[in-house]
Amino acid sequence: MKRLPFIAGNWKMNKTVEESLDLVRGLKVSLQGIEDVEVAIAPPFTALYPVSQELKGSSIHLASQNLFWEEKGAFTGEISPMMLKEIHCQYAIIGHSERRQYFGETDETVNRRIKAALRYDLKVIFCIGETLNEREEGKTFSVIERQVEGGLKGLGEKEARDIVIAYEPVWAIGTGKTATPQQAQEAHRFIRQKIERLYSGGISEGIRIQYGGSVTPENSKGLMNQEDIDGALVGGASLNAESFSRIVRFKEI
Ligand code: PGA
Repeated sequence: MKRLPFIAGNWKMNKTVEESLDLVRGLKVSLQGIEDVEVAIAPPFTALYPVSQELKGSSIHLASQNLFWEEKGAFTGEISPMMLKEIHCQYAIIGHSERRQYFGETDETVNRRIKAALRYDLKVIFCIGETLNEREEGKTFSVIERQVEGGLKGLGEKEARDIVIAYEPVWAIGTGKTATPQQAQEAHRFIRQKIERLYSGGISEGIRIQYGGSVTPENSKGLMNQEDIDGALVGGASLNAESFSRIVRFKEI
């Protein structure tokens, strides 16, 4: 089965509303005519609504960088899936390593957020990946396996179809140290095989697995050429229309 490549830009805590709108306008021009690659951007919360207005009629999808699992209530500082749905978000990034590292996210809270997103028809970019220590101790695969099992716990086949997995080795994020295409392919293959053991119904062949961690226009093609790499979750290089669109246009390089 051919999987549609999916490139998403995670802007993290960058860009004011005005800067976000500038970037989106640039992307609309530079990504014009792109049909064979799905594209999403995840601006900070304050820019989501204005960006959603600017994206009307465009094929670029909108993603949030996180969400909370309750619909509403006394949860100061949190954003609910219902609120994101209202402003036309289609995706939610969940379990990013920065959430796990700095904000106490665990496999269990990741699982609760994923379930909440799916309940509201938001598709999920579910992030996993090992730290440098874990890799050096030979624990890469056991960590990935635990994260996949924990994050997807209790999800059926129908729900699994709305999940995209982002494999992001923590040591490669924002460091300029990309995993080699072989290292990334090895992990992606392992993840796909794990999905095959968890689900039937062709889920493992259909599920898209993005690579993330210092993706640039220079290294994107080599990564995307790997059999089990179906896209990228891009941080730093997504903050600029030219570099992000060059990554999206990896086929033309
Ligand atoms: P980076 O971030 O591309 O800046 O390494 C990737 C990510 O954290 O999603």
